[in-house]
Amino acid sequence: MPTSAHRVATFGTTIFTEINMLAQQYNALNLGQGKPDFDAPPDVIMHMVQALQDGQHNQYAPGPGTPSLRRAVADHAARFYSLDIDAARGVIVTAGATEGIFAAILGLVDPGDKVITIEPFYDSYVPNIIMANAIPLYVPLHPPTWTLDADELRAAFEQKPRVLILNTPHNPSGHVFTHEELTLIAELCIEHDVTVIADEVYEHLLFDNAQHIPIASLPGMFERTVTVSSAGKMFSATGWKVGWVYGHPDLIEGVARAHQFITFAVHHPAQEAVAYALSLPDAYFKDFQAMYATKRELMMAALDSGGLTYTAPEGTYFIMANYSDVFDGTPVECTRYLTKEIGVACIPPETFYAPEHAHIAQDYVRFAFCKSDDMLREVKGRLGRLRK
Ligand SMILES: Cc1ncc(COP(=O)(O)O)c(C=O)c1O
Repeated sequence: MPTSAHRVATFGTTIFTEINMLAQQYNALNLGQGKPDFDAPPDVIMHMVQALQDGQHNQYAPGPGTPSLRRAVADHAARFYSLDIDAARGVIVTAGATEGIFAAILGLVDPGDKVITIEPFYDSYVPNIIMANAIPLYVPLHPPTWTLDADELRAAFEQKPRVLILNTPHNPSGHVFTHEELTLIAELCIEHDVTVIADEVYEHLLFDNAQHIPIASLPGMFERTVTVSSAGKMFSATGWKVGWVYGHPDLIEGVARAHQFITFAVHHPAQEAVAYALSLPDAYFKDFQAMYATKRELMMAALDSGGLTYTAPEGTYFIMANYSDVFDGTPVECTRYLTKEIGVACIPPETFYAPEHAHIAQDYVRFAFCKSDDMLREVKGRLGRLRK
């Protein structure tokens, strides 16, 4: 009987599938998956429609991405971070950040290399590392503030890693790495000759005074960092799956070599629309933050009404909520209870940890608040029943 490869033998169906089904079955408000329930900006959609209709964009795009989108990615990095990116040789357009991260790992990591992964992590990192025949090294963020322990980080660097994957603003904790934290990471990377894959898909999703600092902008880091981002979050268009990787051309060349044999080229009309979107005026990005500031307030009010505790996220549209005052059980049990009995679906964080570290978030579940204000108000009403 033919069987599947050992490489994928440990990859189960993601928890998102189970929770989505459960949420549907029990008619729960679904705050599980990080997928906005509202649309992308109409003018951005119109640019996609025009690109579909103009007869110029319905065949393969250039493999590395359209010149217009690569230029827009470079201009965006110059506008927001004063980074000087070579649009021709320093940018690759990928099928979402997900492909960008995989292409970066395949292009920059050899079999047997070690890759530092900060827990809780985005769920594709570890399967990507395993598919590259590399070895993950885990360093946890510690609740309730979701910060690194410098000694644990140093100990991981002592194990001679090749690459560190850094996600800031961080899903699922909402932590935005500070200049001080990034400086420590950068110093260790330089000392141990480590490359960084920086996943910055939430770069525009910031609250209060939080500032997103690309690690590539720190002294000595540009030549050892590839930065991954995506249109999905910043333009509420997760279904488009248009992402990109930028950095020093020597590193980008490795990413490009892998990318050309994964997807070869990315959806052509969408690249035109994303090029337009990236050049929207600063007002778009300010309004986007204001919209999410309201959603964050509504989310926190809902958690307060249910007696769940949290650290206010500094960025992203996720919040980790501690349920230990109102529910006794594991995160999976709590998630099932909230979905079935309370009518609010969320995600247990086990899949964001190596099994031996899952206890670190043992009383937490993750809520995604990229949902309509009305839904978030209804969540407040439902979570309020938890206390009773
Ligand atoms: C941290 C992080 N990285 C990458 C991605 C994937 O981005 P994309 O949809 O562009 O592949 C996500 C999506 O949720 C994410 O949260």
